[in-house]
Amino acid sequence: MSRNPLPGAEHDPLIASMVAGLPARQQPQWPDPSLLPQVRERLAGEPPLVSYDSVKTLGALLARASEGEFCLLQAGDCVELPTECEPRDIARKVEMLDVLGDIMCTSSGLPVLRVGRIAGQFSKPRSQDWETVYEDRLPVFRGPVVNAPDPQRTARTPDPSRILAGMKAARRAVTAIDRLGRGEGAPPQDRVWTSHEALLLDYELPQVRRHGEGGSYLASAHWPWIGERTRQADNAHVRLMAELDNPVACKIGPEATVDEVLAVCGVLDPHRTPGRLTLIARFGAGQVARVAPLVRAVKQAGHPVLWMCDPMHGNTVKTPDGLKTRKLDAIMSEIRQCIDVVSENSERCAGLHLEASPDDISECDGAGRSPVPGPGYRSLCDPRLSLVQAVAAAAHWRLPVGAAA
Ligand code: PEP
Ligand code: CO
Repeated sequence: MSRNPLPGAEHDPLIASMVAGLPARQQPQWPDPSLLPQVRERLAGEPPLVSYDSVKTLGALLARASEGEFCLLQAGDCVELPTECEPRDIARKVEMLDVLGDIMCTSSGLPVLRVGRIAGQFSKPRSQDWETVYEDRLPVFRGPVVNAPDPQRTARTPDPSRILAGMKAARRAVTAIDRLGRGEGAPPQDRVWTSHEALLLDYELPQVRRHGEGGSYLASAHWPWIGERTRQADNAHVRLMAELDNPVACKIGPEATVDEVLAVCGVLDPHRTPGRLTLIARFGAGQVARVAPLVRAVKQAGHPVLWMCDPMHGNTVKTPDGLKTRKLDAIMSEIRQCIDVVSENSERCAGLHLEASPDDISECDGAGRSPVPGPGYRSLCDPRLSLVQAVAAAAHWRLPVGAAA
């Protein structure tokens, strides 16, 4: 008996096998890959986390956002934990999206689509494969679907059974969003949409499903994105997204060249479809002016992309204690500059992408908080804004001068 409740939601093995043959960065070395086929098969037999109808609805809303009808807020943890996907956790995260979305709505006069880094933001790209802890050389933490953060060899050993546990946690999160009345049955503009970096191919490929219109979509999230480290146009991550009918996003950093960005646009948005592709600029407050030639080139090539501002990932610095942090001032400055630079180049910045938590944390620096090692610093990857800091950042959202509200 098929376990899929939705017609046409069977796994698409053709896309999976095509992508599996391409170079892919940032994948773990599983010490016991013999477990993977079983994990893949179980995952491929699971019901989809999101329906194709929802994915299409979001695509249509993003197309309207590209016409200036909506703003976008995408926010949540840098790395989500399966232990924090319970109804209480999800209710607080949704509440945070609402608080921040309402602020953006007030300052822009536009309704705000609310998207969580939620229900699957479980794997992380890392700049090193290894780190030394107390003279022990350990694999780095790559997110809870790969290994555990504790600095011990057993915890850090990649374990494929974590992939299934992650998918189950994502389902708890999706169910919790539904039960809050913000999921499948809710009016489109009231929904909380799910998104994450589609990084771990062993998690994503089994979740590629056929849909009733003859194509395929990624059933792990409404809106997957590609990270700055895996956006090579001929590699697995971009080619996978190219085959999918979800709206997709791609992070773009200060090293990106015009040619690279145009190549990504060509692969991901060949038909120049409004809402299909969002480019998330994450340059840093000191470098955001470098987005200008990219905005011009993409526009000239005729891609109706949405631009978003991620003021987090280009502004990461280290404290003297070696803690990763971000200064709220730099985050606010990047937001203001990004809105201006994009509009000076005849496009509109459509929204904000933030790493933020409803918890009372001290990971970023500003609004009365500074990062100190201890219980207030809990992020297992990048430093998040506390709710108060995120409110201060969201207050810098506005439409560019001269834009019609
Ligand atoms: C992230 O969003 O957590 C991330 C790793 O971003 P980027 O790919 O922009 O570095
Ligand atoms: Co991050």
